Amino acid sequence: MACKAVAEALLPLAAVLVVGFLPPATFAKSPHKHGFRATLTRVHQYPGNYSAAARRDARRLASLSSAAAGSARTHTSKSSFRGLLQALVENGAGAYHMSLSLGTPPLTFPAILDTGSDLTWTQCATCSACFAQPTPLYDPAGSSTFWKLPCGSPLCRALPRAFRGCNATGCVYDYRYTVGFTAGYLAADTLGVGEDTSSFTNAAFGCSTANGGDMGGASGIVGLGRGALSLVSQLGVRRFSYCLRSDADAGASPILFGSLANVTGSEAQSTPLVTNPAAPGSPYYYVNLTGVTVGSADLPVAGDTRFLSQMAGLTSVSGARFDFDLCFAVGAMEVPVPRLVLRFEGGAVYTVPRTSYFDAVDERGDVACLLVLPTRGVSVIGNVMQMDLHVLYDLDGRTFSFATADCASL
Ligand SMILES: *[C@@H]1O[C@H](CO)[C@@H](O)[C@H](O)[C@H]1NC(C)=O
Ligand SMILES: *[C@@H]1O[C@H](CO)[C@@H](O)[C@H](O)[C@H]1NC(C)=O
Ligand SMILES: *[C@@H]1O[C@H](CO)[C@@H](O)[C@H](O)[C@H]1NC(C)=O
Ligand SMILES: *[C@@H]1O[C@H](CO)[C@@H](O)[C@H](O)[C@H]1NC(C)=O
Repeated sequence: MACKAVAEALLPLAAVLVVGFLPPATFAKSPHKHGFRATLTRVHQYPGNYSAAARRDARRLASLSSAAAGSARTHTSKSSFRGLLQALVENGAGAYHMSLSLGTPPLTFPAILDTGSDLTWTQCATCSACFAQPTPLYDPAGSSTFWKLPCGSPLCRALPRAFRGCNATGCVYDYRYTVGFTAGYLAADTLGVGEDTSSFTNAAFGCSTANGGDMGGASGIVGLGRGALSLVSQLGVRRFSYCLRSDADAGASPILFGSLANVTGSEAQSTPLVTNPAAPGSPYYYVNLTGVTVGSADLPVAGDTRFLSQMAGLTSVSGARFDFDLCFAVGAMEVPVPRLVLRFEGGAVYTVPRTSYFDAVDERGDVACLLVLPTRGVSVIGNVMQMDLHVLYDLDGRTFSFATADCASL
């Protein structure tokens, strides 16, 4: 058993690039060598509905675990992707949006940030089935810089084999899952991102023309995974950082790309981005969690029992109706909670802020739960556990760095 924080953007989990793909040499070129900056907007505020998030996370975790435990073939299996897509499509609350623009003239739309997948996609006209979205549909006919990617292009071959196809439409993908689906074709256009709308020509993206589900107020997904299709790979920036504000109602959270992305200072800590030998083609960023400390006890793995033994004096209540394992009746009490410390390879240590792992889950604040769920195989450090941290993904340096920060001042 290991631990997982409630969240949607998946994080520290690494991977090697798939061997055998050609570099995407003809694709997006950055005129901004130094770097650029954008902002992330939280869809729903926390303390929010942790129960609903836990339910969605359970599904997402199941597919992640199968991807992490299995072979590269498992990673691209339909059931694994079904779960991921389903969770994404359901995950309005708790997710973060980033503003993107596509085309000439540009059409701006909000997309859900996802560090656990590579393909950036939006719904395209003419749509045979589309979910409601807050912005007009991107229309290829309305963009002078749009083109379709041919089947032979390396980025077409970077789509998971189980979902891609080739026909008269072009390089097509068709992801089906239990409560919905998204299908379309791979295209390229000028992509704008960031506050000064830095633009990149010939960026590959998914033009989805048949979709089912509900994206919680977004018009698509922006993929920041580790693979060739990922925005970070395509734009050649190779590093990005962000800082999720726990007071997101007070303003947006910064995300920085390229040379602007740097986590420094005496508090900064780093751990290698490692490879999962069982899934070498995975888009996930992996780090090596070497130990967990709960209160004064060093655990090889996270343990609810140990946590419980250090909550003496509080009434334990069933967490089932909140979808958590371990809950307490807290009333208006200021409850003493054992500290939670995560240790990573190379000596990096993260003392998790209390509200990132123990918080009220009901409206009146009478019941508080351990927001860490049991899992097999893979653990996920999610959005909530990363709040008020400035985190850096350095793909070339194969390093994940973090430091506590005042996100608003970055
Ligand atoms: C949280 O969401 C679940 C279902 O998604 C709902 O049953 C529950 O009432 C919600 N709780 C709160 C406090 O909004
Ligand atoms: C190509 O395949 C996609 C996905 O299966 C399908 O939706 C589309 O209609 C096909 N296009 C043609 C021209 O056959
Ligand atoms: C990050 O900051 C460190 C220390 O200030 C500096 O040595 C390094 O060059 C910076 N890296 C980038 C990519 O800006
Ligand atoms: C994780 O770190 C431990 C301790 O340094 C090491 O023994 C182990 O091989 C590492 N695992 C991976 C997958 O890198």
